Amino acid sequence: DRDALERLAAEIDRDATVVALTGAGISAPSGVPTFRGEDGVWEHFDEGQFTYGRFRSDPEGFWADRVALQRELFGEEYEPNAAHEALAAMGRDGYLDAVLTQNTDGLHRDAADGADGGDGANGAAEDGKREDDPGAGDDTPAGTGEPPILELHGNARRVRCTDCGRRRDGDPIFDRAAEGDLPPTCDCGGIYKPDVVLFGEQLPGAVVQRARTLTRDSDVFLAIGSSLVVEPAASFPREAGATGATVGVVNLESTPVDGAADVVYRDDVTEALPRLRSLLERGADGG
Ligand code: APR
Repeated sequence: DRDALERLAAEIDRDATVVALTGAGISAPSGVPTFRGEDGVWEHFDEGQFTYGRFRSDPEGFWADRVALQRELFGEEYEPNAAHEALAAMGRDGYLDAVLTQNTDGLHRDAADGADGGDGANGAAEDGKREDDPGAGDDTPAGTGEPPILELHGNARRVRCTDCGRRRDGDPIFDRAAEGDLPPTCDCGGIYKPDVVLFGEQLPGAVVQRARTLTRDSDVFLAIGSSLVVEPAASFPREAGATGATVGVVNLESTPVDGAADVVYRDDVTEALPRLRSLLERGADGG
């Protein structure tokens, strides 16, 4: 109901610490498929083929399957949608303090960079730019004062060498793999891995720690477009609630967190977030 969103908006002002956690549902309107729910990717692909264990033991088979998954997920051109744009605008206007995302598509960064400011590479680093960068996954533009975007599961537009740690744009590497260069290797001889967190692989510790701190410090915590079943992100809304935050869930389907949330708003993100933003603007105008 509309009321739910108004209750949420009433909790948000420029003094409140507001943190958003997003999942595949926010990118679905951009044409990126979700993992679960209707026609989710895990209905067509076997999750068990994309584990860290398989990457280690059978990098060739892993990469062959990953090329197909990559095509399914990111084969079409995609751009930020009204929901990404609304969050980016809330950030610029001082209503949002951080985005924690489980998505690896780079669309929050694209939206924050603006329609013409971005390089269209969906957050992919230029060749070698992030080499040895311990902050990879913490996609915060330096010195802009804009809210950080923490990529909890990495960025699928990049690859990383498992030996020398070099990161680079994934497109040419995925092309090589698609042409049968399996597994693709770095100049140093090391095997490339998509720069994402695989099942069974540890999340980047510094990023998770920062995300947890933001979660616990939040006054308002919004879970947006996520089924909230994959840890550790699935626990963040409860952690936020336990430390006093107002917890809102915006999602098409019910989630395991709904019962513990203060506000549940069941709607398409491209409806809900622009509406939330306009409620905030109206509030700021004193009307
Ligand atoms: N508006 C709002 N919600 C939507 C929309 C939409 N337009 N489209 C889909 N949803 C909801 C679905 O109802 C579903 O509950 O988004 C949710 C997406 O859930 P998942 O596909 O499970 O995505 P996510 O929660 O991000 O998955 C977590 O699992 O395998 C992985 O590593 C992958 O990061 C991913 C993690």
